[in-house]
Amino acid sequence: MYLDLSADRGKLYCHTQQTFNMSEFNSNLQNAKQLAIKAAAQAYAPYSRFKVGAVLTLKNGDTISGCNVENVSYGLSNCAERTALFSAIAQGVDVKDIAQVTIYTPSDEVYSPCGACRQVMAEFLSAETPVVSTSNGGEQHWTVSSLLPHAFHFDIENYRAD
Ligand code: THU
Repeated sequence: MYLDLSADRGKLYCHTQQTFNMSEFNSNLQNAKQLAIKAAAQAYAPYSRFKVGAVLTLKNGDTISGCNVENVSYGLSNCAERTALFSAIAQGVDVKDIAQVTIYTPSDEVYSPCGACRQVMAEFLSAETPVVSTSNGGEQHWTVSSLLPHAFHFDIENYRAD
């Protein structure tokens, strides 16, 4: 699913070893955006009124959606990106199969994912996984590592506090 946008025109290569041309890439992205629009419509956001939808596209084309779910105790609210990722884990998806994250907010501005979601993406997704945020006004493309360089990780097997 992920195109190397730095490649020359013509056939472009992605990390799933599948090959897409630019029109296939655009149609995959438009499909994911449409699903993210539907996901955002499911958001429970009575406090912020800021609805967000997120869609994970798997290597085989399957998708998993999430939306933000707020709480009157505001700090308990969950973002759309984390809802989608936690849902994928709960469904038994192999996180290595997640090829792209697509986000949508019903606004003219394009928003970037919050810090908590960046850290959770860094936990499960490879550094080069594309993250695309879309809105009614445009879209912006990143990778997991460009959103959170130097993400916190540690090797639990080798870590000893004493
Ligand atoms: N929100 C998301 O769903 N994703 C983000 O990356 C940023 C923020 C949600 C959380 C809250 O429900 C609302 O947007 C306003 O912060």
